[in-house]
Amino acid sequence: MNFKTDPSHSGANVLRRDFPSDFRWGCSTSSYQIEGAAQEDGRGESIWDRFCSEPGRIRDGSSGAVACDHYHRWPEDLDMAKQLGVNAYRFSIAWPRLLPQGRGAVNEKGLDFYSRLVDGMLERGLQPWATLYHWDLPQALQEQGGWANRATVDAFLEYTELVTRRLGDRVKHWITHNEPYCTAFLGNFEGNHAPGLKDHKTALLVCHHLLLSHGRAVPLIKRLVPDANVGITLSLHPISPASDSVEDAAAAIRHDGLRNRWFLDPLHGRGYPEDVLALLGSDAPQLLSNDLREIATPTDFLGVNYYFPERIENAPGVAPIATRVVETHGVERTAFGWEVDPEGMVTLLTRIQRDYAPNCVYLTENGSTFEDELLPDGRVEDVQRRSYLQRHLAAAQRAMAAGVPLKGYFAWSLLDNFEWAEGYLRRFGLAYVDFETQQRTLKASGQWYAQFLQPGEADR
Ligand code: FCB
Repeated sequence: MNFKTDPSHSGANVLRRDFPSDFRWGCSTSSYQIEGAAQEDGRGESIWDRFCSEPGRIRDGSSGAVACDHYHRWPEDLDMAKQLGVNAYRFSIAWPRLLPQGRGAVNEKGLDFYSRLVDGMLERGLQPWATLYHWDLPQALQEQGGWANRATVDAFLEYTELVTRRLGDRVKHWITHNEPYCTAFLGNFEGNHAPGLKDHKTALLVCHHLLLSHGRAVPLIKRLVPDANVGITLSLHPISPASDSVEDAAAAIRHDGLRNRWFLDPLHGRGYPEDVLALLGSDAPQLLSNDLREIATPTDFLGVNYYFPERIENAPGVAPIATRVVETHGVERTAFGWEVDPEGMVTLLTRIQRDYAPNCVYLTENGSTFEDELLPDGRVEDVQRRSYLQRHLAAAQRAMAAGVPLKGYFAWSLLDNFEWAEGYLRRFGLAYVDFETQQRTLKASGQWYAQFLQPGEADR
């Protein structure tokens, strides 16, 4: 493919028509971050409701109890997605809305909500992309050990069956898990996400069960929805050593092992990486004989969430594997402190291609947070986010030119929303949300995306 790439990498000249005509253009959201209505229509408690209720967990003391009130305002939100001109919409399903106790009794009202939502997408020309698990586990299952309990894998399959039976006639794109790294390690080792545990062995067991539940869900979804496309979404980082030292080089390899290869290797049939297993010793998960085979069940695509690169130094004594992410000075950053590095996305995607050769890749999330301000005249001039978007789209083109079978891009996120442990302090939306009034305002970045996506003369 011959792309007209912008040699300055500024992204200012990126054009939709330089992408293949069947490229998927989308935006991403997740249930707990936008829906609110946490106690409505029979929804059960999730681990995030519980986590948010514990003092000190969320930076601004907030929760997703109301969030963007999307549960009630979804028609307006889907209208906004349509106004952007995207042709795909990635959302997630709240397990406790459907199965308030995690298993057993079904909450029909929850199923009806998602059924209406999917119809709303289709009416607006938005291809639904459903994520089954974007972190809101029913609290009732956590009380039985959560993902550290192997029985949660069975519960996930029951939930998956319920959802796919109800929505599979209309939803053909399924993502089993969003970022199992975050579920497992932020939630169970670092403890800054729900359920807030700090135990590495538990995190590794959780991680194994997440991957196993993914591998088992793939054939189940395909049996129930024969024309389904099924994949998993991983949060991956390009990793490099912080210095030229031999120690940092070795640390970067270790870190990459646990951060990236720990997921990519077993999903691609190689089992868990030997070098990492050796480091983990008795913390490594105990496997049953078929686990690795099931985890490696072939999928239709790999979902990649790309945000930032990581530079790693050797850090003796630092758990779990003596590595530390270092801050590089003099680089551009978002308000979160995440380095802005579009070329890192090219490095990451080409590396995945070289080492694993997936036949289809989607960027299922990419986006940035800045200190947005709603001006008195109603504009939000988020020029940094606009530039971020432009440069990452240009990077997507470069990755494709380098042979990556990238088939779509989903911007994170449609709306400002509840950003987990950061509460409402981090805005990632293409649309600004005033959380007092729930008024939505398309930001300059959203207006640019809409203009970019507008079919030009040549495409009509
Ligand atoms: C990703 C999550 C998503 C959002 C973005 C900023 O790790 O998948 O829910 O929080 O980060």
